Amino acid sequence: MAEARQKELMSLRAGWPSEGVRPPRLVSVALGEGTPFSVYQRQQRRWAERLGIQFEAIALPEHTGGETLKARLRALDSDPSVHGILLQHPLPPPLDFFDLVSGLSPEKDVDGVGSVNLGRLVAGRPLQVPAVARAVFSVLKHYRYSIPGRRVVVLGRSETVGLPTALLFLLRGEGGDATVTVAHSRTRELSQTTREAELVVSCAGHPGLLGRQAVRPGAAVVDVGVSTRADPKAPGGMTVVGDADHADLQGYASALTPVPGGIGPVTSVELMANVLRGWALGEGLGTLP
Ligand SMILES: NC(=O)c1ccc[n+]([C@@H]2O[C@H](COP(=O)([O-])OP(=O)(O)OC[C@H]3O[C@@H](n4cnc5c(N)ncnc54)[C@H](OP(=O)(O)O)[C@@H]3O)[C@@H](O)[C@H]2O)c1
Repeated sequence: MAEARQKELMSLRAGWPSEGVRPPRLVSVALGEGTPFSVYQRQQRRWAERLGIQFEAIALPEHTGGETLKARLRALDSDPSVHGILLQHPLPPPLDFFDLVSGLSPEKDVDGVGSVNLGRLVAGRPLQVPAVARAVFSVLKHYRYSIPGRRVVVLGRSETVGLPTALLFLLRGEGGDATVTVAHSRTRELSQTTREAELVVSCAGHPGLLGRQAVRPGAAVVDVGVSTRADPKAPGGMTVVGDADHADLQGYASALTPVPGGIGPVTSVELMANVLRGWALGEGLGTLP
């Protein structure tokens, strides 16, 4: 699925002029070296290179202050050769991730989590949307899953994952028009709520949350959750799992995205789609589907 979306983006790129425009460029900023962020940055570089996007990883000292970080982000933001900026998070307090990314130009905020991008999504005019939320819709589109009128439960309400996903389902038009319930850790009778859905999108990060008791027969499940669990048989003693009990739902749910290998790789491609969207806007080439 990730390959299909990657191919689609590559053919879109091929249709755009390469002369007279700057090449697309993504800059990823992290605090500290040799942290898990370095691993993410290596993955980002790999995906960027696959789509012909220049990539630069910046590792600032771990204890960089808010003003210095803001100034660095401002400089990147005003550099016309930079089309996308990522700020690796969580950040150590008192640094405020939301505040910092909200200072970026909306088209360069390729995480799609700043105040303008969130506001545009709420207003039904999305620009940059968190890649994981886009990935959910890419997968549903790929499998020709019709969304309008569906009863959908989104499990999770974080500003970076659950909430933007729920808002996309609510958008007016072909890819949206769903009837959406957002559930979270304070939802009473959670299983009863999720059983009402034709489609459950689980973004809780809680392994085993969704088994037959919580899913109606024949419902579809998109498993966004990614957690690790001790597994003596797995290399390194850990295995990656989603929110759904995949063994329990096999042959019971009408569709179920795998973990790992489901939403995760598509999210990486959608992040690069956001960079290409920022690039196309920055270079005056139009918009990217
Ligand atoms: N596949 C990908 O590419 C990708 C990308 C990003 C994130 N993820 C994964 O998506 C998951 C969510 O990420 P996040 O950043 O949104 O996490 P988060 O900030 O911890 O939010 C989790 C959300 O799930 C709710 N929740 C947690 N446990 C629950 C339970 N037992 N029952 C009902 N609701 C529950 C929380 O409710 P409250 O609001 O009440 O606390 C919260 O709204 C994580 O597993 C993360 O690794 C995957």
